[in-house]
Amino acid sequence: MIHRDRFNNKVIVVTGAAQGIGRGVALAAAQEGAQLVLADRSPLVHEVAQEAVAHGAQVVVCEGDLETWAGAQALAARAVEDFGRIDILVNNVGGTIWVQPYQEYTPEQIEAEIRRSLFPTLWCCRAVLPAMIDAGGGAIVNVSSVATRGIYRIPYSAAKGGINALTASLAFEHAEHGIRVNAVATGGTEAPPRKVPRNPAPLSAREQAWYQSIVDQTRASSPMHRYGSIDEQVGAILFLASSEASYITGSVLPVGGGDQG
Ligand SMILES: NC(=O)c1ccc[n+]([C@@H]2O[C@H](COP(=O)([O-])OP(=O)(O)OC[C@H]3O[C@@H](n4cnc5c(N)ncnc54)[C@H](O)[C@@H]3O)[C@@H](O)[C@H]2O)c1
Repeated sequence: MIHRDRFNNKVIVVTGAAQGIGRGVALAAAQEGAQLVLADRSPLVHEVAQEAVAHGAQVVVCEGDLETWAGAQALAARAVEDFGRIDILVNNVGGTIWVQPYQEYTPEQIEAEIRRSLFPTLWCCRAVLPAMIDAGGGAIVNVSSVATRGIYRIPYSAAKGGINALTASLAFEHAEHGIRVNAVATGGTEAPPRKVPRNPAPLSAREQAWYQSIVDQTRASSPMHRYGSIDEQVGAILFLASSEASYITGSVLPVGGGDQG
């Protein structure tokens, strides 16, 4: 990846920064001059902060639960307190907790999926808007999914469909304030084994089979028939976050080897 200085003196809030795509966004932005506010509920986010500092970034860590309004509000307040403004918000928290046919989901699981994959983005957008409006602009990038059209994770699909809708509507509502709002529809992404599991329970044989079905469906739905890398997601997210995308708002960019989601 080519590193330039697109984010010199930009204050970037990255949610879910302790691992995976969020960590990748944080470290790439650090190499391009960003000042970072890294949010996660896992204390592992401190290790990512140390890596970002090694790249020369100024970094603030905010540990908290972004499925709550209080967590999102504390994050926005912390960013403004430490850096005075928020230029960019990357809403990355999310990810399906269970993989199973819809009739297997309990009501509690359905609610938990919506809390995990829709509410953090809803709350964080709401929390940063006043600061972005006061500053005269900003950019928000939401991490959605091609799973808006995919099997065995219907509540997650619905949550990401909600992300796409709020991206389009918030862009409409706040273009007049100089705020751009876009999303990436992330495709299947290869990552190292998760230190923070989405679901710590071991998978039964039938759950493993359902999981394999979504892997197969993801490959089959994409003309490129492969999973992507974290860097391939980071490149698209940081493009939309940067001024290179200054004339783009309300868009959901599919980043899934041609799978349109
Ligand atoms: N990995 C993929 O194949 C893939 C595919 C499509 C879309 N996505 C989307 O990309 C994003 C990142 O995916 P990933 O696989 O890198 O994630 P991940 O599951 O590896 O990591 C998510 C991070 O978010 C944190 N987190 C979870 N709930 C939180 C909460 N309530 N408050 C604060 N932090 C919380 C976790 O601690 C973890 O560090 C998600 O929105 C996911 O839906 C991922």
